[in-house]
Amino acid sequence: MVKLSEEMKTAFSKVKIFPVATASKEGVPNVVPIGFCQLVDDETIWIADNFMVKSLANLEENPIVAIYVWGPETGGCYQIKGKATIIRSGEKFDKMKAIVNAAKPGLPAKTLIEVMISDVFQCAPGPAAGTKLL
Ligand SMILES: Cc1cc2nc3c(=O)[nH]c(=O)nc-3n(C[C@H](O)[C@H](O)[C@H](O)COP(=O)(O)O)c2cc1C
Repeated sequence: MVKLSEEMKTAFSKVKIFPVATASKEGVPNVVPIGFCQLVDDETIWIADNFMVKSLANLEENPIVAIYVWGPETGGCYQIKGKATIIRSGEKFDKMKAIVNAAKPGLPAKTLIEVMISDVFQCAPGPAAGTKLL
């Protein structure tokens, strides 16, 4: 697993809606916009599943997730890959549910997707685009 740099964490904090990509075990890709996507430490992302259907089905058979971090205020662009664990109960799940319901009461917060970051790539345009940073 890898730890995000301060620059990467700052960029992450500026994004409001994250594109979250998954794939089926046959390799069919699926990408969705996700608002509840937060860093819990330098190497872990929590995604709150409120409405996932294909994304969750994909993660049940293929845990690899890809996200890119970009927005008008990020000052850079990073592509993050990681391995997801699906969490449906326990302390972490309860914490995620409390965060979601404090922000938007009534949302189902049905599953916590915990992503351990495994790779970070340069995603900004230029000669270094696509290179592995972490
Ligand atoms: C702006 C925006 C933010 C969203 N945020 C979330 C979210 O935080 N959690 C979630 O489960 N779905 C969220 N959705 C819904 C998903 O993008 C998507 O509709 C859902 O995962 C079903 O698609 P799927 O079958 O491909 O998984 C959001 C949609 C939009 C447009």
